[in-house]
Amino acid sequence: MGVSSNGNIDLTLMDKVFEKYAAQKGTLIPILQAAQSTYGYLPKEVLKLIADRLGVSLGKVYGVATFYAQFYMERRGRHILKLCDGTACHVRGTPILVTAVEDGFHINPGETTEDGELTVDIVYCLGSCAMAPVAILDEQVMGRMRPEMLVRQVKKYLKSAQETTES
Ligand code: FES
Repeated sequence: MGVSSNGNIDLTLMDKVFEKYAAQKGTLIPILQAAQSTYGYLPKEVLKLIADRLGVSLGKVYGVATFYAQFYMERRGRHILKLCDGTACHVRGTPILVTAVEDGFHINPGETTEDGELTVDIVYCLGSCAMAPVAILDEQVMGRMRPEMLVRQVKKYLKSAQETTES
């Protein structure tokens, strides 16, 4: 995804993005969106390149990027686990799910495992309160989660996703 396993960023991938938006004005947000879909997040080097190419300050680019929740400044995992901590889920056990993920994968909410496989995020009410506590792993909704079950299912999912990629 434009980032090698040792974390090197291939900035040449931005050439086609700048080409596409060259003749247009007010393109900072679409350029940031294209950059994020290229790299999976917005690396510092890319923000600097965007600032240089658009002739605006790095502070402005950074300010816009951090204002919108859709943009990520940190590297994201290939798979995303969302734990709902809305009221219904919270009272039915999200805090112990968070602890189970911390113990099972050594990541806190907002963090990504060292191997880049999993990021865990906290979200607020997914509209499925009857199934609380709710977790979403990529697109898969998992209701009435218990800590051991969650860790087991996530591990199983990651393993089978890895096997599918390797085969
Ligand atoms: S509070 Fe979690 S789905 Fe509503």
